[in-house]
Amino acid sequence: MDKKVIYSAVQPSGNLTIGNYLGAIRNWVSMQDEYDCFYAVADMHAITVRQEPSELRRRTLELVALYLACGIDPEKCALYVQSHVPQHAELAWVLNTIAYVGEMSRMTQFKDKSQRHAENINMGLMDYPVLMAADILLYQTQLVPVGADQKQHVEIARDLAIRFNNRYGETFTVPEPLILKSGAKICSLQDPTKKMSKSDENPNASVFLTDDRDTIVRKFKRAVTDSGSEVKFSEDKPGVSNLLSVYCAFRGIAIRDAEREFCGKGYGDLKLAVGETVADALAPVQEEQKRLLSDKKYLSEVLKAGAEKAYRAARRTLSKVYRKVGFYQGE
Ligand code: TYM
Repeated sequence: MDKKVIYSAVQPSGNLTIGNYLGAIRNWVSMQDEYDCFYAVADMHAITVRQEPSELRRRTLELVALYLACGIDPEKCALYVQSHVPQHAELAWVLNTIAYVGEMSRMTQFKDKSQRHAENINMGLMDYPVLMAADILLYQTQLVPVGADQKQHVEIARDLAIRFNNRYGETFTVPEPLILKSGAKICSLQDPTKKMSKSDENPNASVFLTDDRDTIVRKFKRAVTDSGSEVKFSEDKPGVSNLLSVYCAFRGIAIRDAEREFCGKGYGDLKLAVGETVADALAPVQEEQKRLLSDKKYLSEVLKAGAEKAYRAARRTLSKVYRKVGFYQGE
């Protein structure tokens, strides 16, 4: 039987946070043996918000090195840059013709970003979910491992797949989001009711994968906590619950066990333990990323092979789509 297909991507639009790591990349690694995996750097998505070109280029390569440093194996999956495979944009165009302006303008992320970038509400920002649907559907993807914030986008990809199949006949596999409980929504350290984000203006709100040990420990020490003193996971303790989630996700333990560990201890103990755990876990990843970044030739080879693998699969789907919609493709 064919292996199931997995697709996911991260935008090189800022410094990655431990949220990106726990919600997405970390989970991709364990899937490489069992599934047919496509992992991309979504540079075409990134330019929906203004980017400095030289920084975008640098971040793209840093993200590739980070994927590898986290354990993504280019022999087992297709690791590539989205803009290297032209079918993403081509399929997005076709899907645009079955996506409705109304549904796109109601997407949470679009509304959010339109508010934050009021001076630049470009067509790409609104079209973002259609391009994301094209990413996913090009590879006949079954599962999309993402954090909770991307669920709505994967649902749009499902809707578009079903709509296209109904109109033109069976063409796309209908994908499903894969959102693991642990690490699906890591929150800001300064406002734990909000998700931790690459683009937060307050640098103390997010822990970046590139932060050094002292910075990581300091950021957790300064994390906003709640009233009371008991270390307990509960709705009325969003700050402490977030710290416990991070701690457990990095340690691979259940919340209950962490609560037991901190029984009789205070918030300060928890903050210190989380900071040290995160710093310990990230140190080898940071070191390996740095080593890989000094070997640009190797990174280029990985990307070339990845794009070729992706291209072959993407071309198959796109030519099927072109046939279905009635584009003349020669005799
Ligand atoms: P991006 O770059 O915003 O985030 C990358 C991944 O990290 C997850 N994530 C989080 N998980 C837990 N807690 C957080 N605080 C947190 N912040 C981010 C996101 O859910 C995501 O899985 N649109 C996508 C990129 C993309 C994509 C795709 C994803 C483009 N094409 C196709 C899947 C399939 C995005 O903006 O991710």
